[in-house]
Amino acid sequence: MSVKILMVCLGNICRSPLAEGILAAKLPKEKFTVDSAGTGDWHVGHGPDKRSIAIAKKNGLNISNQKGRQFTAIDFDTFDYIYVMDSSNYDNVIALATNENQKSKVQLILDEIFPGENVDVPDPFYGLANGFETVYEMLDDATANIAAKLIEKYK
Ligand code: 4NP
Repeated sequence: MSVKILMVCLGNICRSPLAEGILAAKLPKEKFTVDSAGTGDWHVGHGPDKRSIAIAKKNGLNISNQKGRQFTAIDFDTFDYIYVMDSSNYDNVIALATNENQKSKVQLILDEIFPGENVDVPDPFYGLANGFETVYEMLDDATANIAAKLIEKYK
């Protein structure tokens, strides 16, 4: 059975598609499934932002085939781990949880590298191109820790 990890941001076109692609590349496909979703519905069915596609490509990853979808309460049952990009995503996801087990699956992704500091992955949507570089580096660091922990836990 596959261990399932979900990456969540607001639009599911900038940050969480990158987080999905970066983590998926660090995990063996036989044991792990990685997906992403947005708390908002504006970009359902859309591919990732071209700036996310570009920074992924620069780092050897192809995320262009992903399709945006909205987070739903069903995801609490489907996924084992739910990583959110910022505290507003956290609040939006937690608001849909109906029990403590569901809430316990949700974690701020940068807690992996800055434990307990409540650091957000900044939303690069309205910013300049180097915002995507920063986001990429943050997600690369955080997912390195996540992958190491998961591989150790499920070996
Ligand atoms: P994301 O960025 O949450 O990293 O995908 C955003 C993309 C689109 C919008 C907001 C954030 N939007 O409002 O359309």
